[in-house]
Amino acid sequence: MKFEIKVTQDGSATIYLNELDEHYHSTFGAVQESLHVFVGAGLGAVTAKEVTVLEVGFGTGLNCLLTMIAGQESRRQIHYVALEKYPLSMQVVDQLGYSSLYPESGAQLFSLLHTAPWNRDTTMNAQFVLHKIEKDLLEIVPAELPLVDLVYFDAFSPEKQPEMWQEVIFGMLYERMKTDGVLVTYCAKGVVRRTLQSVGFQVERIPGPPGKREMLRARKTGEQDPLVG
Ligand SMILES: C[S@@+](CC[C@H](N)C(=O)[O-])C[C@H]1O[C@@H](n2cnc3c(N)ncnc32)[C@H](O)[C@@H]1O
Repeated sequence: MKFEIKVTQDGSATIYLNELDEHYHSTFGAVQESLHVFVGAGLGAVTAKEVTVLEVGFGTGLNCLLTMIAGQESRRQIHYVALEKYPLSMQVVDQLGYSSLYPESGAQLFSLLHTAPWNRDTTMNAQFVLHKIEKDLLEIVPAELPLVDLVYFDAFSPEKQPEMWQEVIFGMLYERMKTDGVLVTYCAKGVVRRTLQSVGFQVERIPGPPGKREMLRARKTGEQDPLVG
């Protein structure tokens, strides 16, 4: 696969994937998007002090790094489970410059996120445990995932990867979420909102990050209310 490093409008870098004609983050601002959609609207909407996060698409590790920083600031204990089918090489990741986002010993911690072994827990610091799973989301069986409080759904867009946005996938994620669990995605498409509702989520459209009007936040309330028709 051919990866190109691009600078987004907030000055932070992202990856452009030629084969899919798709970026890993919003071109309006990679860090801005991650902070707004995942850390702000996602982690910010969960009240538990101990939070289990599932990220769909670990990619560059940007959401993971910013969540680790936010967790430390708010003194929360985070167990971060990240799925990835196509791990990036250090040679690509090193070009992104994300290590400077971390206040202290950023370079070391950021590369540790990537060099941490797959398929087991790695303690990053007293408050953050990372568990990366190298696997295709489409092949995951529910029992392979812990019960989670928060899902960062950061797959490539439904136009480019429709198989990731199917009802069967969201149904499986719903099943692995705790009551009051939250799922966030940058995507605000009506068809995605309806698919989330059809498996039982209560879904709200909320303001998106700069450059994107809206995004979706879904909650598993426990009162299943699937859409009819
Ligand atoms: C939009 S990018 C987001 C990446 C990441 N969240 C970040 O901040 O860099 C989508 C990610 O999903 C991964 N992915 C694509 N198909 C997948 C699949 N079937 N199962 C698991 N991960 C997948 C891609 O390799 C990529 O890393």
